[in-house]
Amino acid sequence: MTALTLSTAAAPGLRADAIVIGVAKGTAPKSGNLVVAPGAEAVDKAYDGKLAGVLETLGASGAEGELTKLPAPAGFKTPLVVAVGLGAEPVKDAWYDAEALRRAAGVAARALGGAKKAAFALPVGDSGDIGAIAEGVLLGAYSFDAYKDNGKDDRSAKAKNGKGPLAEAALLGGKPRDAAHKGAVARAVAVTEELNRARDLINMPPNDLTPQAFAQVAQTAAKEHGLKVQVLDDKALARGGYGGILGVGGGSAATPRLVKLSYTNSKAKKHLALVGKGITYDSGGISLKPAGHNETMKCDMSGAAAVFAAVVAAARLGLEVNVTGWLALAENMPSGTAVRPGDVLRMYSGKTVEVLNTDAEGRLVLADALWAASLEKPDAIVDVATLTGAMVLALGSRTFGVMANDDAFRTAIVEAADEVGEPSWPMPLPEHLRKGMDSPTADIANMGERMGGGLVAGLFLREFVGDGITWAHLDIAGPAFNEQGPFGYTPKGGTGSGVRTLVRLAELTAAGTTRTGCHALVASISRYCSGSSSSRFS
Ligand code: BES
Ligand code: MN
Ligand code: ZN
Repeated sequence: MTALTLSTAAAPGLRADAIVIGVAKGTAPKSGNLVVAPGAEAVDKAYDGKLAGVLETLGASGAEGELTKLPAPAGFKTPLVVAVGLGAEPVKDAWYDAEALRRAAGVAARALGGAKKAAFALPVGDSGDIGAIAEGVLLGAYSFDAYKDNGKDDRSAKAKNGKGPLAEAALLGGKPRDAAHKGAVARAVAVTEELNRARDLINMPPNDLTPQAFAQVAQTAAKEHGLKVQVLDDKALARGGYGGILGVGGGSAATPRLVKLSYTNSKAKKHLALVGKGITYDSGGISLKPAGHNETMKCDMSGAAAVFAAVVAAARLGLEVNVTGWLALAENMPSGTAVRPGDVLRMYSGKTVEVLNTDAEGRLVLADALWAASLEKPDAIVDVATLTGAMVLALGSRTFGVMANDDAFRTAIVEAADEVGEPSWPMPLPEHLRKGMDSPTADIANMGERMGGGLVAGLFLREFVGDGITWAHLDIAGPAFNEQGPFGYTPKGGTGSGVRTLVRLAELTAAGTTRTGCHALVASISRYCSGSSSSRFS
């Protein structure tokens, strides 16, 4: 991964391949159309204060996602200036949005693939900005080339593997001796390293990333980070009565697994359980998906990848909260041993489910994992899943839907997602949709009304959450896998959607045990802070 340093160096003496600056669309009455953002003063000065005009001549506007390259002025030790758009200039007393900085840093890092060193001279107000820029760089520099001719001939591997990521990024305006700045970088490194690992797992082809292989990856990580790990294989699942996971995995030669990954902290007062859908490939099963709907279905384990990454990140950050991750891993394939439409499964909770459509498999594996998580009586359970095409139709490809059995908790999750720059939207669980899943044969069917299919899936999951447990469901089917071109710090392919929200959630849950402030999240799962004033943690 790209190496990060905080640097007090300044242009023009700085040595690097490129210096990255921010530009914005001017909003003040007197400014022109484009303004050079704070942090780039020395660069602007070297252009005699005319940098904004030069960039406008080149066609730059300051729009988000825009990137303009120009040769550095005479006397600079860095040959290239890269101007990235930050969107609208903040009005009067406001400052640049952390997400605008994160995206701009990502755009630049992506464009600088192959470079040895780049200096980032973006606007820095506080340590939060440094953290956002660091995240943007580390996420934007991501590339997945493990399968690009990595055969026996290293010379061809080198030649064909493209340029490789930016090797080093120096963040200017960062304070190398400031604890908050250093902490922000350390947090960004831990979270983005794990997030990028989740992306690797999502991008890995399904012939290699089987449930067994995923479980093995979790075992290795657990060892490295001192986590407790338990893996139930198909035999153990059968002994335990996990009918949902076994039913879905029954059609594949690659047998299913349930992985439990536990991070515990001696100062923890709360226990957060995270449950991830881990369908390593979703063919649809006997209700086979048509061509055109199955090419990207290796991404159907993105929820489990997000949960895995979040638990490891929580451990690396030493958060004062217990976090248990449950990875429900199976491959959904048609075969003579596959579950059929019409079969009834006896789930881990004891409920029976009539399988009407074998392509509605995510809810079946999640049901068993939700029940297993519930038996430990955690303070809250959050599941993450690429669950329904309906959610993609509803919210598009960049926003995940959030459903919950507690309105305050749902609000808190949407807020936490917003804080870290993940677009999400609250969705309801309308009671009237429940009866569409009534089955003449079993306790419930795995399908209901087609309209509102994402909400129907949420209502199904709710049936498998233990009584009295606060629960939320994130349907990341839209944002988990980017089929279009890269944007901001988001690459094509696996995105790592959900990871940053889950980590923030774990931080807020931990904060509720150590601070007096009361975030909506903490309020919704901590009775004792309801009396204090309601202030959001920064
Ligand atoms: N994995 C899919 C959902 C999905 C769709 C994820 C698009 C990512 C992108 C899920 O298992 C599925 O097939 N859901 C069905 C449910 C239906 C049969 C009730 C769907 O949404 O069509
Ligand atoms: Mn499916
Ligand atoms: Zn699926």
